[in-house]
Amino acid sequence: MVEEWLREWQPPSTCQTLVLIGPSAGYTLPANFIGRFSHIVAVDLDVAAQVLLPLRFGRPVQWLTRDFFGLDQKTPSPEGLNDLFSSYPAAAFLFCNILGQIPVALREKVGTPNAGEIVEPYMKSLAQLLANARDKYAIASYHDRFSRDLRRPNEAIDHLTGELFSGWSVKKEFPWRLTRRLEHQIEFVTNQSASRATS
Ligand SMILES: C[S@@+](CC[C@H](N)C(=O)[O-])C[C@H]1O[C@@H](n2cnc3c(N)ncnc32)[C@H](O)[C@@H]1O
Repeated sequence: MVEEWLREWQPPSTCQTLVLIGPSAGYTLPANFIGRFSHIVAVDLDVAAQVLLPLRFGRPVQWLTRDFFGLDQKTPSPEGLNDLFSSYPAAAFLFCNILGQIPVALREKVGTPNAGEIVEPYMKSLAQLLANARDKYAIASYHDRFSRDLRRPNEAIDHLTGELFSGWSVKKEFPWRLTRRLEHQIEFVTNQSASRATS
């Protein structure tokens, strides 16, 4: 499914650099998609992935370990993503199943009692930042909308991504069974418009 959707995503042909955000070792990414770009940049804090992703695709990868989401800050803020976008103005940016994990990581960081005060404002700032970047950069994301344990089908976890991409042009959703018991509802989003698709 990811492969099919990535086949449809056609960033402008001037985008020779692909920036992957949270790709881990690239298990969900098809080699033919990676092969469309001449320069690959990956942002992930996982040091094992730093070794495994280049091995998987048999090519060099420029690796960045800065936390652009600012989760390591006392007051977390996604503003660092602006630095990432502006460092690669002609790149295509793919958020690899990471944006739905941000509220989970934030809740773990701040603890349940204060989560509401931190997580929802953070996701609003992230939505605004992405909306500002939408007309300047080629951006796509696949991320959790909901997840649930199939043993408790009426208790879904909302990953707070429902408002992240309001007004974006291309959106799709599909269920992704991660394990026998765990199902995620994944959303695919791009800012690709008909005119960009042919440019
Ligand atoms: C849910 S996994 C997704 C892995 C893979 N892309 C997939 O689709 O299965 C989220 C990834 O985000 C990475 N990650 C977590 N926090 C991050 C951060 N602040 N900046 C960059 N990557 C981060 C993790 O190391 C992990 O590889």
